[in-house]
Amino acid sequence: MELLARLRELIGPEAVLTSPQDTEPLLTDHRRLYHGAARAVVLPATTEQVADVLRLCHAAAVSVVPQGGNTGYCGGATPDASGNSIVLGLRRMNRIRSVDAANFALVAEAGCTLASVQQAAATGGRLFPLSLGSEGSCQIGGNLATNAGGTAVLRYGMMRDLTLGVEAVLADGSVLSQLAPLRKDNTGYDLRHLLIGSEGTLAVITAACLKLFPAQRSVATAWIALPSANAVIELLALLREGSADRLSSCELVPAAALALVLQQIPAVRDPGATASPWYLLAELTSSAVEPLDELLEGTITHAIELGHATDAVLACSEEQRQNLWRLRESVPEAQRRAGASLKHDISVPVASLQALIERGSALVASLVPEGFLVAYGHAGDGNLHFNVNQRAGTDASKFLAHEPALKRAIHDLVANLDGSFSAEHGIGQLKLQELAQYARPAELAAMRGIKQALDPLGILNPGKLLPQP
Ligand code: FAD
Ligand code: MLT
Ligand code: ZN
Repeated sequence: MELLARLRELIGPEAVLTSPQDTEPLLTDHRRLYHGAARAVVLPATTEQVADVLRLCHAAAVSVVPQGGNTGYCGGATPDASGNSIVLGLRRMNRIRSVDAANFALVAEAGCTLASVQQAAATGGRLFPLSLGSEGSCQIGGNLATNAGGTAVLRYGMMRDLTLGVEAVLADGSVLSQLAPLRKDNTGYDLRHLLIGSEGTLAVITAACLKLFPAQRSVATAWIALPSANAVIELLALLREGSADRLSSCELVPAAALALVLQQIPAVRDPGATASPWYLLAELTSSAVEPLDELLEGTITHAIELGHATDAVLACSEEQRQNLWRLRESVPEAQRRAGASLKHDISVPVASLQALIERGSALVASLVPEGFLVAYGHAGDGNLHFNVNQRAGTDASKFLAHEPALKRAIHDLVANLDGSFSAEHGIGQLKLQELAQYARPAELAAMRGIKQALDPLGILNPGKLLPQP
């Protein structure tokens, strides 16, 4: 029987989409850098159905592209143009299977949105701390497959650190299931960590057991004006030490990003701190009821005395706090609305941030006359989105023509500083060449060996993550 007919028989005709109207939005990545084709988009509703689909595709040697909320930045969820693959969407697998307050754990299916998992944890009196600007659309399976980061990594870690176990289907349809809320389990290779960050190339993740934390009962948020980017490192240390490590977020926003957001995003207000080249959005949180505002204010006053800050505005209401967060999280959208941009998701050891900003700014100034730097993001993790926007009135094609030279220069600088050219967004198809360039031969050989062992026919997300030998 023909593959699509067999798929319809296995998971129901309504779960096998072929009309362009249904499939087109799922065949393009959200930045519109990639467009692919597929035999169908299939939407299984259970782990058994995912296993059935993979068994069938394995037998027929048909490739499978797993897709979550399609918010990824590297084209990982977009099939190639051959039209031979199927896209396997997880959105119907959206049940929270359990919220286990006693074990500080929750089991969610892969198609749950991140926001729905945060909500389920809150309803159970707990916190699930992963926080991304895309949380209303991205899915837990996608967060696991990309090892997502976001704005609370400094305190709680990345998706990898927040995962106790996964359930996943391998290329041949066999099911791995490790969903017990175990904090300690040293029984052999940790398959969970192999699958986290594998971008759909080793297995389809169908569910996960996630770590929860005590709910937050106190929060203090400040918008801090910095005299220069150099102040970030000292200020970060002061904020961590001065708050007994209650610092959950430490996000850098340059004046250029503030200006873009105020121009492009209607509902956001200027926090009103002294005009400065750089700002830090810092947030303390605690599960106890305690005067965090006083603690934060005292630490910032000390920082001002030492010359590491010039001014600050503390959020006095939840509404003001939300405004500060909207400002920070609107930077990518403001950049998009303002014209073409060149993006670099890079990280360095925190103490090298100053060197990165100084040397990176000089590279941008010399290599991209039509652009200006908008370097913002997770300074507390040493991870900046070192982006460059096109200046108003310049020629977009001239600006974009600098992309290869700038990328090479920035990524060489990062390598020089012992950093990463992909801090939190992954490789997908966007950064294959970069992995080939910067990974050591032994690392690439080990990755290829793992791929060969788990997916010998290469049906899972071909052309992603692993560069061709
Ligand atoms: P998709 O885009 O659908 O897929 C991403 C990759 O995972 C693909 O390779 C796909 O094949 C694979 N995949 C998806 N689901 C599965 C599954 N169940 N099993 C196996 N493989 C699977 N990312 C950050 O890390 N930090 C941020 O701060 C951040 N902010 C963002 C802000 C905005 C406004 C946007 C649009 C994106 C942001 N992202 C951020 C990027 C993106 O949201 C994350 O990478 C997210 O984890 C992707 O989830 P998704 O469900 O959309 O995955
Ligand atoms: C962010 O931190 O805002 C994202 O990871 C970067 C982006 O959306 O461009
Ligand atoms: Zn980010």
